Amino acid sequence: MSGGLSMTVNGNAVCIDDAGSSRLSVVLRDKLGFTGTKVGCDAGDCGACTVLIDGKIACSCLVAAGQVAGSEITTVEGLSANGSLSDLQNSFLAYGAAQCGICTPGMLVNAKALLDSNPNPSRAEVQDALGGVLCRCTGYAKIIDAVMGAAQTPRLATNLQGGLGDRIRHVDGPPKVTGEAVFSADEIPDGSVWVKVIRSPYHHGSFVVGDKQAFLDAHAGLLAVFDASDVPGRNNHGVIPPFADQPVFAEGIARHKGEAVAAVAGEREAIAQLDPADFPIEWSELEPALTPDAAMKNDAPTVHESRPGNVLVRGLVRCGDVEAGMTQAVHNVSGRFSTPFIEHAYIEPEAGYARRVGNGIEVFGCTQAAYMDRDGLAEIMNLDPDAVRVMPSACGGGFGSKLDISWQPYVAIAAWLLDRPAAIAFTRCESMQSTTKRHPSQIEVAVGCDAEGRITAMRFSGTFNTGTYASWGPTVANRVPVHASGPYHIENYCADSLAVHTHCAPSGAFRGFGVPQSAVAQECLFDELADKVGLDRLEFRLKNALDNGLPTVTGQVFESGVGIRPCLEVLQAHWQEASTAAEAFNRNAAQSGAPLRRGVGVGTCWYGCGNTSLPNPSTIRIGVTKDGTVVLHQGAIDIGQGSNTVMAQIASEVLGVPAADIEIVGPDTAVTPDGGKTSASRQTFVSGKATQRSAEALRAAILRRANVSETADISFRHGKIAVSEAGTETEIDLANLPVNAHGYVQMAEETYDPPTKPLDENGQGIPYAVFGYGAQMVELTVDTRLGTVKLEKITAAHDVGRAINPMLVEGQIEGGIAQGIGLALMEEFIPGRTENLHDYLIPTIGDVPPIESIIVEVADGEGPFGAKGLGEHVLIPTAPGILNAIRDATGAMVRDLPATPDRVLKAIREARNDG
Ligand code: FES
Repeated sequence: MSGGLSMTVNGNAVCIDDAGSSRLSVVLRDKLGFTGTKVGCDAGDCGACTVLIDGKIACSCLVAAGQVAGSEITTVEGLSANGSLSDLQNSFLAYGAAQCGICTPGMLVNAKALLDSNPNPSRAEVQDALGGVLCRCTGYAKIIDAVMGAAQTPRLATNLQGGLGDRIRHVDGPPKVTGEAVFSADEIPDGSVWVKVIRSPYHHGSFVVGDKQAFLDAHAGLLAVFDASDVPGRNNHGVIPPFADQPVFAEGIARHKGEAVAAVAGEREAIAQLDPADFPIEWSELEPALTPDAAMKNDAPTVHESRPGNVLVRGLVRCGDVEAGMTQAVHNVSGRFSTPFIEHAYIEPEAGYARRVGNGIEVFGCTQAAYMDRDGLAEIMNLDPDAVRVMPSACGGGFGSKLDISWQPYVAIAAWLLDRPAAIAFTRCESMQSTTKRHPSQIEVAVGCDAEGRITAMRFSGTFNTGTYASWGPTVANRVPVHASGPYHIENYCADSLAVHTHCAPSGAFRGFGVPQSAVAQECLFDELADKVGLDRLEFRLKNALDNGLPTVTGQVFESGVGIRPCLEVLQAHWQEASTAAEAFNRNAAQSGAPLRRGVGVGTCWYGCGNTSLPNPSTIRIGVTKDGTVVLHQGAIDIGQGSNTVMAQIASEVLGVPAADIEIVGPDTAVTPDGGKTSASRQTFVSGKATQRSAEALRAAILRRANVSETADISFRHGKIAVSEAGTETEIDLANLPVNAHGYVQMAEETYDPPTKPLDENGQGIPYAVFGYGAQMVELTVDTRLGTVKLEKITAAHDVGRAINPMLVEGQIEGGIAQGIGLALMEEFIPGRTENLHDYLIPTIGDVPPIESIIVEVADGEGPFGAKGLGEHVLIPTAPGILNAIRDATGAMVRDLPATPDRVLKAIREARNDG
């Protein structure tokens, strides 16, 4: 061992050879197996790799292993003692502080350092201490609560017994706080080759690949180069098959910066040393069109020959007579708004591996859509879908982008052709360059109302930069016109949308599918219109709110379950109090000459759960083993939102089994039926309904077997099911029952597909079976000299129909609000410029104000136990609420996001000049 690097890790002495110049994060993960230390950026921006070095926090990606010789290192794995969780870890579970869990190790290690030196920190001290770790899921609120909770009154996270409506902890939580959860880069098979993608340096360019063999000969350890000619099947994929247009490898022309043109496979060290600039390729840069305006010019370069004018698709919803409604209006407002590309910025970059198994291929890694990946990969690999097995890892955040295939084909092709396991891990830069983004939007809206403030007409026109490939562009273009009215009753309405191809990375799905962008324009103009009428802004919304029995803009009428009015009503008292406080604050500020102004704003949302007018089924299987264990095969991928817990609670409610006793078989195309993709706020609603039906079918089968009525009670015991009715108990001895092909003595499998109807040429029809609703109130302070905005508080009322688990509901609300804050105030992805997490800013723990969540339950007749979806809804009202509060504070409306200080100042100056 002499000459090796010696240190102590989690109390154990270790000695490693050849580690000196390696990053400490690499040594910990790859040489010592402490994969609880996560790598999110390799640049010290995200803090996921934080460890303690001699008791002090450090980003292990920034420390050369040689620097810590003789030191004591503590990783997340070192926080538990003798197999027991620490108070801090238990507190994270109890408060629901770990959603996807990828940031959790870094958070825990930072929190431990804080608590070691300051056992009773204040809220501000917790925020300071954790300021270096980014979380994209939680909005930080429950993390702060958990750290303070651990410090003050340690509480054990044992609540797994509750049924529907109880705040039980995540059933899959413990491995996330111990570091044992297996994310996409955590379990690469020994002996894997590694794959590096060669990408376009230009937004638009033609290329010719040079001598591949000479390149391989010149680089020891490199084994193969793959390009379009090596794709076994179709060099083409896409999440909406009729629009599939994205090549695995570009062929001769690259259409966006970062597009894959080839891939190199080799031994791990050789790939780690590979400089992509050495790859033999000749480029000719071509003129790009980076915006819809540029792409729609007559002489614009064509992105796809098959799509004239670079138009991907148009959407339309029209009802009533807009011209007549506008003529009838006494008050009118109109305006143009724009939003930029938004990067998903999940903390886990894409990674995974594939291996060839006979004539099939297995793929393990992060995804939101196992079966869609399977079917897409089958086309690419020219295999039957059954020959492709997709095994999702724990997913370190997705928010829509991990619905699309990205890393998967490169490892599948390498593993297939080299017949060795093949692994890949995107760098942060690759992830940001090449994966989908939120669509930038340019939106024009006009709204009119009568003298009393009833809306008489609304016209909406939105142009969306859909980037190079279709991805979810058609979905955004179709969803936006349905939602652009907001949750309001508008009889005369016309909304059109246009998705335009440019030479940017593809725009795709991102929490809200275009609705957050349209809500900015609609909600901000509603404030201006309310002011013109002289109505209180909340009152204006109540006056126009959609209600049971009133048609939506697509002509759909809900007889029950419309929840926007209760959401607004529950905010009324808060609104009065906040408005009064803001007036007092502003009076004092004006008297003292202070430049600060307080404002209060409101934003609302509605959101249709699931696909727009398309089939959207989920299938759930529940079985009982010979020993009486209830096994839930739930393929609804849990990306941190809590679908494992929600499905367990629903099954628990029907079957009377504690959620803790239900064994969950997670998504895997070989062992779980298709739970559909995790998107569009569909899992609690759609997969939850399938779970309810499956559990009910299982219960019914058990009752039939016992020959008792539907009202009998059942309970599961070791090897038996006890059935009792009218004081008589009988037992079903499971040992005597035959086992089916899935290994169960009793089993049910049910599918649920929400009832929708296609939209006609005017967009009239039934696009969704269920909508969820929400309203958020923002209180903030603007420094009118600097243009800076300080968020004081956000009060969020969301109608979820029935809160299956209120703690998870709050977690979704808090996390969505944090992303809404990013959209409003700081986030802007600029292709080619903001390709890392220090140039692209997302909210830190210090950027998110206190959030008060108010759960509204207006039961829906369709959802499981009345539940509606929530995940997408929660960020929609935040940005317009912030913009409306800025306007309330200053009189200035920022119409181009993000509302950075320079834009706020410009808007204030323009408003003063107008005034
Ligand atoms: Fe923090 Fe997902 S829980 S990034």
